[in-house]
Amino acid sequence: MNDRSLDNQFAAANSLSPEQLRQMQNIAALTGQGLLGTNLNLLNPMALQNLINPILAARTPPNLIDSTSVDQQPVTGIGGLGASLDQQSQQQAQQQQQQLQMSASLAPQQQPQQQQQQQQSKKQPKKQRVDQSSPNVSLGSSIPPSVVGGPRTGPAPVHGGRPLVALLDGRDCTVEMPILKDVATVAFCDANSTSEIHEKVLNEAVGALMWHTITLNKEDLEKFKALRVIVRIGSGIDNIDIKAAGELGIAVCNVPGYGVEEVADTTMCLILNLYRRTYWLANMVREGKRLQGPEQVREAAAGCARIRGDTLGIVGLGRVGTAVALRAKAFGFSVVFFDPYLVDGVEKSLGLARVYTLQDLLFQSDCVSLHCSLNEHNRHLINADTVKQMRPGAFLVNTARGGLIDEVALAAALKDGRIRAAALDVQENEPFNPQVGPLKDATNLLVTPHAGWFSDASSAELREMAAAEIRRALTNQIPESIPDSLRNCVNKEYLVTSRSHQQPSLLASTACSSDRHD
Ligand SMILES: NC(=O)c1ccc[n+]([C@@H]2O[C@H](COP(=O)([O-])OP(=O)(O)OC[C@H]3O[C@@H](n4cnc5c(N)ncnc54)[C@H](O)[C@@H]3O)[C@@H](O)[C@H]2O)c1
Repeated sequence: MNDRSLDNQFAAANSLSPEQLRQMQNIAALTGQGLLGTNLNLLNPMALQNLINPILAARTPPNLIDSTSVDQQPVTGIGGLGASLDQQSQQQAQQQQQQLQMSASLAPQQQPQQQQQQQQSKKQPKKQRVDQSSPNVSLGSSIPPSVVGGPRTGPAPVHGGRPLVALLDGRDCTVEMPILKDVATVAFCDANSTSEIHEKVLNEAVGALMWHTITLNKEDLEKFKALRVIVRIGSGIDNIDIKAAGELGIAVCNVPGYGVEEVADTTMCLILNLYRRTYWLANMVREGKRLQGPEQVREAAAGCARIRGDTLGIVGLGRVGTAVALRAKAFGFSVVFFDPYLVDGVEKSLGLARVYTLQDLLFQSDCVSLHCSLNEHNRHLINADTVKQMRPGAFLVNTARGGLIDEVALAAALKDGRIRAAALDVQENEPFNPQVGPLKDATNLLVTPHAGWFSDASSAELREMAAAEIRRALTNQIPESIPDSLRNCVNKEYLVTSRSHQQPSLLASTACSSDRHD
């Protein structure tokens, strides 16, 4: 079979248009591999640029890369170079060029080469790139003095007037880019841990954006030498040591409220599934079960329960908990909540019953739904002891954080029927693997993949809000002006600021409109 018919087959199998096929053939030619060896994701313009630019850059002698050509290559890898290069900067350029070539397959930091090779042969290394998305910006190689163990008080490193902002555990910056491109150089690391983050980012990133798939403890935070602000793209901050960050002079912000409606709707969806067994009944039909007559329905739908008159117990009446309470009332639930941190009177405003101990809540509830933030005081809030305080045959729902439930205790309770069924959007170990762990044999369990927050609308909103917070930090002086400039700083109480050190704005001389993305 010739190449052309193979390519056509490839296009048909992947529903590629002729234009897309041509694009893929160009990529294959550039990378020197066959069409079958190329990655379909590369049709994404961003990914395509990430692939092509290092190749183009590597083919171009450093002194020929001018600002015009950089302009034409918005994603250039480390070290887009200025138009007039003197000898010294040409040398720097060559070094940067070497780094650029390395950046396509960045090795973990400070590991002996042999060890790296062994690791790489065990595990396919994740593709990592540090990509510069703002044109005309040169990432200097100057490394700021180490600040490990103390707050950052010196001037933040800027590159051609733009500080470096890194997305730590993701690749897609398409929403963030338009918001940040005139004030920052944006890099993405796609890392699972700080050991996978490029040295350039560790040394020079002033701002970091992060999802929930990477953890930053004290040691991790100390690796960042210039970091001033972290924005969690989400509301939970349990994967960041915010105290240690504060002590290092790093402000941590989150984005509360972006997906409240989605999480509340997901929670209701899970509660309704437990009461109406929709998920199990639908699976039964899909598996070929044909029910004839009320007897068979009774048997198949055993366990379906009426909602009206039952009590829903909400643990944590914050944004999501409140939205769930309001929805649940419309379904006929009596709603009771436990939240020791709320002022008296909230229950009256919302027309809810309030209890002042978890034990009372568990005792009264036919269905318990968890909506508190996870912190050092409430890990395994639902455990072998508290399970015994629940009503026999109660339902349990968790869309908050997996660490709130001791899964060993839950598995035992599901097995002996003390908990009739449970629904978890969040788990102790994510992504959830139904083949391993204490819950692997539980049949009366419904698990969703921590997607409660997601809708196209909430996702866009979330990312815009996170980028806008980084922008606020960059266009103001951080950390000095945190209380004024950041909307959702969660570690103000720990933050070591340095008002006494007059710190220049992170944007130095960059002319930019402030906060236009609010
Ligand atoms: N599944 C998802 O996709 C998803 C998305 C967003 C948020 N979440 C999680 O949902 C939860 C609620 O989010 P939110 O935005 O409503 O948070 P929030 O901060 O608005 O509300 C949390 C509430 O929990 C209360 N609380 C804390 N500890 C408690 C305890 N031990 N007992 C009782 N109440 C306690 C707090 O006082 C607060 O009122 C968080 O855990 C968050 O991480 C999940």
